[in-house]
Amino acid sequence: MSQNRSVELDDVQGLMRFGYKHLTEACFLLLHVKDPAAARAWLAQAPVTSAVKADPLPETALHVALTSEGLRALEVAPDLLTRFSDEFVAGMASDAARARRLGDIGANDPRGWKWGAGERVPHVAVLLYARSGRLAAWEQEIEAQCGAGFVRIERLSTSDLHGVEPFGFVDGISQPHIDWERKRPVRDQDQLEYSNVSCLGEFLLGYPNEYGLYTPRPLLTPQRDPGGLLPRAEDAPDQADLGRNGCYLVLRQLHQDVQGFWCELDRQAEGNADLRERLAAAMVGRKKNGEPLVAPSGEPADNDAPAQRSNLNNFTYETDPRGLHCPLGAHIRRMNPRNADLPGGPGGILSRLWRMLGFNTATLQQDLVASTRFHRLLRRGRTFGAGVAPTLSATQASPGVETGIYFICLVANIKRQFEFVQSAWVMGSKFAGLTGESDPLLGHRLPDPGDSPTDGFSIPQADGPDRRLTGLPQFVTVQGGAYFFLPGIRALRYLATTNSKGA
Ligand code: HEM
Repeated sequence: MSQNRSVELDDVQGLMRFGYKHLTEACFLLLHVKDPAAARAWLAQAPVTSAVKADPLPETALHVALTSEGLRALEVAPDLLTRFSDEFVAGMASDAARARRLGDIGANDPRGWKWGAGERVPHVAVLLYARSGRLAAWEQEIEAQCGAGFVRIERLSTSDLHGVEPFGFVDGISQPHIDWERKRPVRDQDQLEYSNVSCLGEFLLGYPNEYGLYTPRPLLTPQRDPGGLLPRAEDAPDQADLGRNGCYLVLRQLHQDVQGFWCELDRQAEGNADLRERLAAAMVGRKKNGEPLVAPSGEPADNDAPAQRSNLNNFTYETDPRGLHCPLGAHIRRMNPRNADLPGGPGGILSRLWRMLGFNTATLQQDLVASTRFHRLLRRGRTFGAGVAPTLSATQASPGVETGIYFICLVANIKRQFEFVQSAWVMGSKFAGLTGESDPLLGHRLPDPGDSPTDGFSIPQADGPDRRLTGLPQFVTVQGGAYFFLPGIRALRYLATTNSKGA
């Protein structure tokens, strides 16, 4: 078993390694297969961008991802399909239980989605990126190439808001640091300190994950790959690995009610502009300029100092256990509690045992939150619509504007990563011992299954009871979504051959 083979970057789709900030234009084409043979012919030679660094930087990039419906439409052998994860095979909008867990109820109900449910589950997503002014020609060229095999069901056009999401906050600051060099030791015991470094296998299939295991993925007998297109599995060298160098891609279209967000905060702040900004920052966990509310040293961030970008992500919540600087339920604290497997404490066997048994009451909240390292997401989203024009005062944004985020995340395990975060941390009304609230940005505000409210938000105060916001309306609405497989490039070529159709 050649455990430490280096990563075949030329086989990995570049989106795993690059966010393409220089490619400011992008659109996502959602396609249906209309002629399987012609569709396969295009997939066999589609100009997919790899993860090898290019110098100069590329002018355009293209990525291809497929849903399980897409694999069926391409007539991939049914037994091969079932070797993918259950969530992928079922699809994001497949059943009421999943919808409830993900918070896709009420206004988020898949029955109201623009795409992603019923007949409008895409088969293939073609993600196109280009330098400013170059997208139209690039898109035309690709559409001409794939027109024989596919029909377009939706075009998701993005907008360049210069790194700021529509509510007005700098986004894309915190990302897991992927261990491309495979230097991080495979962990089989508790990790005592939070680390931003993640094992490659948390994101790329075919490599060890944070459990030191290989996430299940389709492995095939070599007879099913007579051309030897696929890499061999590291953990089973007699098998061809259809998953290696690929991952799952979660795409959700999230509409943001910018007007509603700022008006509500204005109402809560009774027109006090300074308080309105502070409440908004408390909900996000960062100020608009990206500065975290918990400073790297554990001190509150200095209001006047301009944020140093390199410093924006170098913190944990260990010094703020009560949430006095960053509320426990703030968006970024829910999305990444930055904790280790055990609550913090001194070294030594006794202390460790004490913490393992949960006797460390000072860190009870941390104890109520699962270890972060098994639930990281690599975000690759883009914004759509106009956001808030900086010249407008916050409360004057036009109502009903179509703006928001195409949330994209890449993971090796949809259930343990995206679905866990979305259900336990975004929608969970008991996160970190809180009650009556869900994610302040993303919550649907409907009562939870136990009929408790979820429309509150608590901001702990040093000198008294929590400041409690209640009756928050919904700010973010899901308008579409799907689970995709973003294959390694060799796997994509394999799926395009008739060998993937089986006997
Ligand atoms: C319209 C919807 C959303 C908005 C406006 C939004 C906004 C933000 C902002 C402003 C940040 C701080 C910037 C940063 O740390 O990079 C952030 C961080 C983050 N968000 Fe969201 N977000 C949205 C949806 C989601 C969803 C659906 C998820 C996952 C299910 C998510 C997961 C994360 C994660 C993992 C971080 C980084 C946290 C950290 O590592 O500290 N976000 N988001």
